[in-house]
Formats: sequence, structure tokens, C-alpha cells
Amino acid sequence: MEIITVKGISKSFGPLQVLKDISFTVNQGEVVAILGPSGSGKSTLLRCITHLELVEGGSISLTGRDMVKDGVYVQAEQLREICLKVGLVFQNFNLFPHFSVLRNITEAQVHVLRRDRKTAADRAAALLEKMGLSDKAASYPGELSGGQQQRVSIARALALDPEVLFFDEPTSALDPELTGDILKVIRSLAAEKMTMVIVTHEIPFAREVADRVLFMDGGAFIEEGPAAEVIDNPRLDRTRSFLARLNR
Ligand SMILES: Nc1ncnc2c1ncn2[C@@H]1O[C@H](COP(=O)(O)OP(=O)(O)OP(=O)(O)O)[C@@H](O)[C@H]1O
Ligand SMILES: [Mg+2]
Repeated sequence: MEIITVKGISKSFGPLQVLKDISFTVNQGEVVAILGPSGSGKSTLLRCITHLELVEGGSISLTGRDMVKDGVYVQAEQLREICLKVGLVFQNFNLFPHFSVLRNITEAQVHVLRRDRKTAADRAAALLEKMGLSDKAASYPGELSGGQQQRVSIARALALDPEVLFFDEPTSALDPELTGDILKVIRSLAAEKMTMVIVTHEIPFAREVADRVLFMDGGAFIEEGPAAEVIDNPRLDRTRSFLARLNR
């Protein structure tokens, strides 16, 4: 079942066209990595799919519901429902520094999903255990390592029961030895058939975790295929030289 369907979307910032007629689909339970040079439009694409930016044309549907069709967005209430099904994890964690770890994970459950505090706290505790962070519930983000903060931000996204999770460079602010923790979490989510789209510059990470790789350049996907195939044996010179540069 297709859970993300993107057809012919475009996006410009002033005279700069950042996304050029992009189309792709992601199936339920698939893990897709988006690779590509800096400035190629990867973050903009995630921001458009998660409704942090508006597209200028094309269609996006998520979890079987239209978000925008031929450039026309659905009503606000429908948009809100769709956005609730989608989680986004950022490079820099974006945790509230003045809230405890527990409160970072309960706040949106209470205010967005209207869960009672007890239910929200139970859910947060279960997720913290899953992330190996049960002992950090009362800590503040500033007291945690980058890898721990990133796991809290993943727990926060999961607490809202998303059907799709998007990650924008989830490991790039981390020391290399902490990348393994995030990899482990993403692997366990993949085993539970969570659909995930991950923008990353870490090629070994993408090769490990993704079923499929999309390679973006200049606002378009120029190559795609099974992760091992595209990474080990790219078809295009452009992809090959990008990968070679990163591996140096
Ligand atoms: N809000 C904005 N206003 C103007 N230009 C923008 C805006 N956001 C992004 N851009 C431009 O759009 C292009 C694509 O940016 P984007 O952040 O999507 O790239 P990226 O592929 O995520 O790069 P990186 O790998 O460095 O994160 C860049 O040229 C950037 O300067
Ligand atoms: Mg980016």
C-alpha cells in the first residue's frame, strides 16, 4: 500500500526553483533514504511533505488522504488530520530546554491529542524504556548527550502515533560513535514496519538502514533503486562522483 504519493511538485524561493517536478512513492513499512549534495533540495522536500512549506503545483497524498491536489490544498481541518499522522525528527533535536525529558514527550500528547496527563506519562515512560532512557525522564535536555537528546526527540515524535516518520539528518550533529544508537532505534522501528524517510549524508548509515535510496541533485531525483545497488554500483557519473567524494 502506498503511504506517500508525491506527483509533480514544484517549489521556488523567489527566482530559485528548488524542487522541479518531483514525483515518488513510498510503500507502507518501507525505509527510504534521500541522498544528495548540499543545497539539492532535500530539506525543502521534507518540509513540503510535512506542510512546513507550501508547494506551488503538483499533488501530495499521505496515508491515503489528499493533502494537496494539482496545487490546491484541502481544507484546514483535513490538513490538520493528515499532519497528525506524520512525525518529523530534526538534525538539532528541537527539544524544549526548560522542560524535563518526560514533559518534552507528554506536552504534545496532552495539547494536540488531548490525552490525559496520566495516559501521556505512561506512553512517554514506555517509549523512554524502548529508547534505553528510562533513567533520564526527570533530566533536562541540556543534561543529555546529543545521541540521548536525539532519542528523546524520536520518542516525542512516536508518542503521537505517526504512520510515517521523516528524519532530516538525524545523525549529523552526533559524534560518530553515537550514530550507532540512532541506527539501532531506526532498525527496531523498521522491524515494527514503521514507514520512514531519512535524509542523510552518512552513506554507510543509509546502506544499513534503507530499503531504497533516492538520489537528489538540483531539485530532482536523478537516480533511485535498492540501497545496496545505488550505493555500491551507481548508474550515473553524477551519483558516483558524489559518493566517491563522501567516501574520501
Ligand atoms: N526559506 C528559504 N528561503 C530562500 N531560499 C531557501 C529557503 N530554504 C531553502 N532555500 C534554498 O533552497 C535550496 C535547497 O535548500 P535545502 O535546505 O532544501 O537543501 P538540502 O539539500 O537540504 O541541503 P543540505 O544537505 O545542506 O541540508 C538552497 O539553495 C537554499 O539556499
Ligand atoms: Mg538539509
